[in-house]
Amino acid sequence: MNAFVTRLIPEAGLQMVRQVCQVRVWEGELPPPREVLLQQVAGCDGLICLLTDPIDAGVIAAGGRLRVISQFAVGVDNIDLAAATARGIPVGHTPGVLTEATADLAFGLLLAAARRIPEGIEYVRAGRWRTWEPLGLLGAAVWGATLGVVGLGRIGTAVARRGRGFGMRVLYTSRTRKQRLEAELGLERVVLGDLLARADFVTLHCPLTPETYHLIDERALRRMKPTAVLVNTARGPVMEMEALARALREGWIAAAALDVTDPEPLPPDHPLLSLPNCIILPHIGSATVAARERMAVMAAENLLAGLRGEQLPYCANPEVYGEGEQLRSERNGGFSRRGLGL
Ligand code: NAP
Ligand code: GLV
Repeated sequence: MNAFVTRLIPEAGLQMVRQVCQVRVWEGELPPPREVLLQQVAGCDGLICLLTDPIDAGVIAAGGRLRVISQFAVGVDNIDLAAATARGIPVGHTPGVLTEATADLAFGLLLAAARRIPEGIEYVRAGRWRTWEPLGLLGAAVWGATLGVVGLGRIGTAVARRGRGFGMRVLYTSRTRKQRLEAELGLERVVLGDLLARADFVTLHCPLTPETYHLIDERALRRMKPTAVLVNTARGPVMEMEALARALREGWIAAAALDVTDPEPLPPDHPLLSLPNCIILPHIGSATVAARERMAVMAAENLLAGLRGEQLPYCANPEVYGEGEQLRSERNGGFSRRGLGL
């Protein structure tokens, strides 16, 4: 069996795949160009891909013998799930193992923006620190402030816990009510408009979907407090970037701290890069040694399960095991989910 891995990932995962498959790894510093992706997918049974690889209907159609797509990330907005499901191909992803790492980064960004940490570092480096200043680099208090979590899933909950640890009042908005968490953490569920109007810090943790695309647009930004900080470790297109630049320039909100942007990377002349009240990191939410290793192992587990015709342990399109059953069964030579007792 052949597997294609679109970038070098931690060896722990690659080793697992090599024991079973002929593995090709794209070792470029940048993602493989589309023509390489199409060519490699055509000859492989399993694909490990990254959020930087657009796995659209064309790529999926090119994978004539493709039995499994395994994403090295939790978010799968770069993959046409409907096209994969229609072809009976399960899509794996890596939920959970990066939750705390990403929540740490989100809270780090929140603190950095509130307390103007990057500006302070720059101030010292530029030799402008001459004395202790009673009115210099004043920021926003985090302790006791109100945190608004948009999307109370795994990462949103982990950030809410951190907020509670900092004595914050925590509001959330999500599609479904989380009564157990409300009781356990003392959270308040509100509609998005109220969250934006009341929160001192708004932190985004929903996936990128047609419903969340540009969720934070001009209207949403104008609802926020002029002292508020927006933190985004979810996906760039959840925010409307032009509106955000205006909001920061014209003072509709105080600051933004982003691990994700639209596009990624931002062009060097992008207006957000010249604003002192905007912190931007290069999408490093899950970038700890431990999280990336566990993601690699999980991606390998998903890939290998798919190649064996077994249900993926972490599947982003579970519906493939319903309607896609017949097709999948045919591809696996009749070795269906029912045959596995699943
Ligand atoms: P998750 O557990 O699935 O949580 C997502 C939450 O968003 C769910 O609770 C869901 O609500 C909620 N949601 C969905 N649509 C919504 C909407 N229209 N309005 C409000 N809430 C909505 O996922 P996760 O593991 O926490 O990851 C969340 C996202 O973070 C990923 O999809 C990915 O894009 C991003 N991420 C980024 C990094 C990074 O490096 N910066 C790292 C990891 C993940 P319900 O529970 O009510 O369905
Ligand atoms: C990273 O952004 C992920 O979705 O895992």
